Amino acid sequence: MNIREEIKELKHARNAIILAHNYQLPEVQDIADFVGDSLGLSIQAAGTDAKTIVFCGVHFMAETAKILSPDKTVLLPDMHSGCPMADMITAADLRGLKKEHAKAKFLCYVNTSASVKAECDLCCTSANAASMVRDLVKKGDRVVFVPDRHLAGYAAGLTGADLVAWHGFCPTHARITAQDILEARGLHPDAVVLAHPECTAEVRAAADRVASTEIMCMYARDMHAGEFIVATEVGIIHRLRKENPDKRFYPACEEAVCPNMKLNTLQKVLAALEDMKHEVTVEREVMHKARKSIRRMLEYRA
Ligand code: 13P
Ligand code: SF4
Repeated sequence: MNIREEIKELKHARNAIILAHNYQLPEVQDIADFVGDSLGLSIQAAGTDAKTIVFCGVHFMAETAKILSPDKTVLLPDMHSGCPMADMITAADLRGLKKEHAKAKFLCYVNTSASVKAECDLCCTSANAASMVRDLVKKGDRVVFVPDRHLAGYAAGLTGADLVAWHGFCPTHARITAQDILEARGLHPDAVVLAHPECTAEVRAAADRVASTEIMCMYARDMHAGEFIVATEVGIIHRLRKENPDKRFYPACEEAVCPNMKLNTLQKVLAALEDMKHEVTVEREVMHKARKSIRRMLEYRA
């Protein structure tokens, strides 16, 4: 039996589902039951009947799955797969911000720890950040956005909101430069450029569309264009090519690799299922508070 068959067999035995983020290794995406963006994976985690969720992504995503499905066992194949952006803000930082902006609403990106989410009013993904900001601003709320300054800038640009933004960023998306886009356009003049909102303002300005990873997949499928330059983590190229064999996809920057996302391997998925190991847990009170802000995120599907 090869490793894929072993995983499949154990998955049935454990009544497990495998969820994988769009940035996972190709072979991990290929054995998953569902591949998607942070929002799509959260929706799957909230709705599954499986008893065990093997989460092939990074730690905050597995934590979110646990918060949404507290009675299920959530396994992370490699416990070291954290997110440096999520680590750029702590619950103590949040408490400090709350003293400074006592009347504001606190909106956190899903790329935060459960304890940061617990201190916030609402949580968003890159797919729904702007809609959530727009609705808060309509109600007259002042918004503090954490931790990604680039996603904050993107949401502010779309809504005209004057956000207070934390200074976090994604080191992987920061590797992509406007010069990369310029050079890629030179090589592929007919290609549509898709950029993730975690990219810098210069890269977003150089793109044709700015979108979360799932919306990028939608554009790739629905647009008439036959070529796309993709400014995000390179793992998504596998899914784009698989779903659109007649179209061409070029990474804007080959170095945009998230090392944490690549820690989950087939061997580690198998080991997690064999030993039911690397279980993700969240403290009860934190879970309860964080769930409120995550629930709001699920109300905004896009
Ligand atoms: P999305 O898949 O939600 O677009 O997020 C990208 C990301 O960087 C997750 O860490
Ligand atoms: Fe975090 Fe960036 Fe990796 Fe996403 S790509 S998990 S934001 S470091």
